[in-house]
Amino acid sequence: MTQPQTATTAATEPAPAGEQWWRNAVIYQIYIRSFADSDGDGIGDLPGIRSRLPYLRDLGVDAIWITPFYPSPMADGGYDVADYRDVEPLFGQLADAEALITEAHGMGLRVLVDIVPNHSSDQHVWFQAALAAGPGSPERARYVFRQGRGPAGAEPPNDWQSTFGGSAWTRLPDGAWYLHLFAPEQPDVNWEHPEVVADFHDTLRFWLDRGVDGFRIDVANSLKKDQGFPDLGDMDVELLDTHSGPRHPIWDRDEVHGVYRGWRLVLDEYDGERAFVAEAWVTDPQRLAMYVRPDELHTAFNFQYLRAPWEAAALRSTIDECLATTHAVGAPTTWVLSNHDVTRHATRYGRLDHTGGGVAEGERVRPDTPLDLSLGRQRARAATLLTLALPGSTYLYQGEELGLEEVVDLPESVLQDPIWERTHHAERGRDGCRVPIPWTPHGPSLGFGSGEPWLPQPADWAQRSVAAQQGAEGSTLELYRAALALRRAEPAFGEGDMSWQPSPDDTLLFERSDAASGSRVVCAVNLGESAVPLPSYGKVLLASGPLGPQAELPPDTTVWLRV
Ligand code: NOJ
Repeated sequence: MTQPQTATTAATEPAPAGEQWWRNAVIYQIYIRSFADSDGDGIGDLPGIRSRLPYLRDLGVDAIWITPFYPSPMADGGYDVADYRDVEPLFGQLADAEALITEAHGMGLRVLVDIVPNHSSDQHVWFQAALAAGPGSPERARYVFRQGRGPAGAEPPNDWQSTFGGSAWTRLPDGAWYLHLFAPEQPDVNWEHPEVVADFHDTLRFWLDRGVDGFRIDVANSLKKDQGFPDLGDMDVELLDTHSGPRHPIWDRDEVHGVYRGWRLVLDEYDGERAFVAEAWVTDPQRLAMYVRPDELHTAFNFQYLRAPWEAAALRSTIDECLATTHAVGAPTTWVLSNHDVTRHATRYGRLDHTGGGVAEGERVRPDTPLDLSLGRQRARAATLLTLALPGSTYLYQGEELGLEEVVDLPESVLQDPIWERTHHAERGRDGCRVPIPWTPHGPSLGFGSGEPWLPQPADWAQRSVAAQQGAEGSTLELYRAALALRRAEPAFGEGDMSWQPSPDDTLLFERSDAASGSRVVCAVNLGESAVPLPSYGKVLLASGPLGPQAELPPDTTVWLRV
């Protein structure tokens, strides 16, 4: 295995203030339930994260994003928030969150928290008040209540479907229907209501006052609905989801941008460089770029790249289109390969139908597609070096630095994702990418905690544990460390220019350069079926796998070279 040759830079320096750190940061996503459990109840928590901050500092990331840790009945893993300004007892106390922010800052790590504005929990004080107050009350106006259709209003108000399966409407005993784009325990709030707008501003301020560096915005593209609430019929979502076409009644409506212009003003009240990242599954890059215009959000996940197949032409055109569209509005592009909602990329890239797909909830686990996991892991390593060489910021999902795969064979009895029940067991849901992290080769939960983990870990994850990979030549963990250290050391990787270079079919070759420092690096990826000659530049900095004896670049391998 090719080892890093210049990967010794200490990774503890925070990006200096005034440099818009979020433009090229590497941000590590912590799915709190599955990261580190401090109290042995089998569920990760805030003190667990605190205990692992030195690991994250040494890994070399710039920031962390923590998924929701607010009071929640956990109908959707915490994305059903009962109180936006406190901490769920399972995860700790408010003081733990404050200590975590302070300690992370002390180690040079910035902290983003999740904000969930499309819906609250049905246990939120507002929804409880709406239930108690009855039809037509001002309390109900903060949610989306409608009368049903058909005799006695027994049919839902329209044909909208929940993302998790089934109707998006649930009927109360008093006959009124309420909207939930996700689970029935997640009622959509009414973004036409001024109190809703003002209250979310206060929630932003609550966490900004506690020092957070920004927010990841959950389903950022769904807040504003067509107030006519039309049936969808057989409307083609993809057709509607273009920059010039008619707008979809639910997703990515033009009105949503007003919400974020308001949020930006709130953020800009604060000093330091705080930033937003939008989770918006918007297919058209030009539409996505609208979220990152100068007076709106700073960044938005680029899911088009995540969905791209492992093919040179497709990746190149996706990269070009995403860079061009965000560049046009002065924003960076935000790359991501895995998160807590999609099939882990080591598994996606190992599927032998070459689609690279399987990311949408309805197509997540496809046991019928042949899987070569060792190929998937090799490609995942190559994809990581490609991603980290691109201009812009990058999100890493916990465990990808260990080469973890999707756990596709969790027993049905342990599945917790609401998708499993809502689809009447037709879809297993997202638990397979949420299995707790293995830290050590031994113990009841491989070092995750002292008790049984909330989802069982595959036995062979002992060898994938942090302790097993730390310092091990050729391990995926050491590859990530080396890559992140080099990314910090070479100014060309930051906001440096990118230019494609001629290369054989089924390969990608581009140069990054920083005129001020003279730093120049090249990234070459072989996505074909046979080895190609290594491009004739200078020294090999890092490779995702062994290079051939005659310095060839083997299939499914990426190399970084210094020019
Ligand atoms: C997106 C989150 O990432 C996902 O986990 C959640 O289920 C939905 N939004 C609903 O909040």
